[in-house]
Amino acid sequence: MKGDIGDATLVSQIFAQEQIDTVVHFAAESHVDRSITGPAEFVQTNIFGTFNILEAAREAWLKEPSGKPSGTDCRFLHVSTDEVYGSLGETGAFQETTPYDPRSPYSASKASSDHLVSSYYHTYGLPTLITNCSNNYGPYQFPEKLIPLIINNALQGRPLPVYGDGKNVRDWLYVVDHCEAILTVLQHGKIGETYNIGGNSEKQNIEVVHTICDILDEKVGLLPGDRARRSLITYVKDRAGHDRRYAIDATKIRTNLGWHPRVNFADGMHRTVEWYLDNKAWIASVTDGSYREYYEKMYGNR
Ligand code: DAU
Repeated sequence: MKGDIGDATLVSQIFAQEQIDTVVHFAAESHVDRSITGPAEFVQTNIFGTFNILEAAREAWLKEPSGKPSGTDCRFLHVSTDEVYGSLGETGAFQETTPYDPRSPYSASKASSDHLVSSYYHTYGLPTLITNCSNNYGPYQFPEKLIPLIINNALQGRPLPVYGDGKNVRDWLYVVDHCEAILTVLQHGKIGETYNIGGNSEKQNIEVVHTICDILDEKVGLLPGDRARRSLITYVKDRAGHDRRYAIDATKIRTNLGWHPRVNFADGMHRTVEWYLDNKAWIASVTDGSYREYYEKMYGNR
């Protein structure tokens, strides 16, 4: 079914009709830049939308006044982000016990939704789990995010916008590894707990952009005039409140549940670039109309 989690009536109808016993809650506004220009949708979808699903699950699953789940196998997994923990200095990594310190409207809305999920566990006994993951990349990622945006621009010989000094650090995880981590937590995680998920693969943004340029030069040849794609790199105005560094300590999920990432960054980037080269029709279909408006709004005057 396709619908809006902001529609409380629809969400509870779906629970009633479909006898749902498992929720893996991915639905969210996810792009930090969009949250800076338009925070309202983030509050609406990420906070109120999560509240609506929690309420529907509470209504459907917690029939007894004691608050005990009537269906013992029910599980509500909330997919969240490492951005709730704020920004790191040069050392250290986020642990599950790191205090929340969100700094963008996006991360504040995700922090709020995490707190709501956690409160439904403590207050009502809803069988919840939370995962906080680092930056994903791989097939089908919308070209508003760094990696697909750079691949798309580099293919077309357009400028490659790097925010600030390009030295902000993200911990990259191939999307299939993230999916396996979510399944592992869903099947084996301890109810009421949070698990951090990360790729153990910290890179400065400029390194990521260089990697994409080099792979494309190798796979599709240099630009006209024998120019390497690195020549397209353009440093642009920084993101407001730009978090400097994220890094995940994934010891808990590795030790307690046996998950670890299987795809390293070099391999994952080759697979990703290959996927975008093989799926040009998909990129074309998602970069017409509204994407062009979005691009102009975000990058036109940068
Ligand atoms: O850490 C997990 C988070 O990763 C998720 O919760 C978010 O939903 C997801 O969007 C992502 O957030 P980031 O802000 O880290 O991702 P983004 O791809 O927007 O940017 C990655 C880095 O690249 C960041 O430091 C900003 C920089 N950047 C991004 C874009 C789009 C550029 O330098 N130029 C760009 O054009």
